[in-house]
Amino acid sequence: MLGIKNISKSFTQRGLVLDSLCLDLSKGDSIAIMGPSGSGKTTLMNIIGLLDKPDKGEIFFRGESIANFTDDESALYRRRNIGFVFQEHLLLPHLTVTENIILPLLAAKYSREEFTNKEQHLNDLLVKTGISELAAKHPFQISGGEAQRVALVRALANNPSILLADEPTGSLDAKNADVLGEILVQMNKEFGITLILATHSNDLAKKMSRILRLEDGKLAG
Ligand SMILES: Nc1ncnc2c1ncn2[C@@H]1O[C@H](COP(=O)(O)OP(=O)(O)OP(=O)(O)O)[C@@H](O)[C@H]1O
Ligand SMILES: [Mg+2]
Repeated sequence: MLGIKNISKSFTQRGLVLDSLCLDLSKGDSIAIMGPSGSGKTTLMNIIGLLDKPDKGEIFFRGESIANFTDDESALYRRRNIGFVFQEHLLLPHLTVTENIILPLLAAKYSREEFTNKEQHLNDLLVKTGISELAAKHPFQISGGEAQRVALVRALANNPSILLADEPTGSLDAKNADVLGEILVQMNKEFGITLILATHSNDLAKKMSRILRLEDGKLAG
């Protein structure tokens, strides 16, 4: 489903970060990308999410070459296919939990019927992730672990085929990290979402079906 062929990326100050890196993923795969700080995990995730462009190489999504998409094409690809979860939940403080998770639906301009279906899907996700009773609360009224689950539900609003999670448990305690990890695995299994996560946590990485290490600009099993 996703093919990354010989991607290279360098930054002026740092030099080569990704060096002819290759990665092939099928629908429903779950992989953890591990590696030291500064090894390029976030850089790789940003390139897969088309938030950044590689200097060289190709990216294929369902057979289509996407690395040279225009900004508009990239935005559409992201909205339709990619969900993002970051270390910080990045919820908007002045909106309720419900309003925060509905925001991606508004951006995608669905018909009324599609919108209602997606809204129902979001309510199901709130139940599945154990936070449905928090729907009317604001981000500052809920715990960090709960907020990160809200961020995950928001990332799943548009039924993405790929979920990119960059250090999703980095700001959580062990218990909340474990809960979030289990929910990520459940979402991967239940919806067949391809899960790509970058993490320093061995416990989280072990929940994925493959662990890859990013070292010297390349991925190794
Ligand atoms: N936009 C940028 N401009 C310049 N240098 C950058 C930029 N983004 C990343 N870098 C550099 O590229 C290298 C890889 O950074 P990256 O954030 O991908 O590492 P990481 O593996 O995600 O690290 P961490 O585990 O700390 O999150 C670092 O040396 C970083 O300073
Ligand atoms: Mg990083």
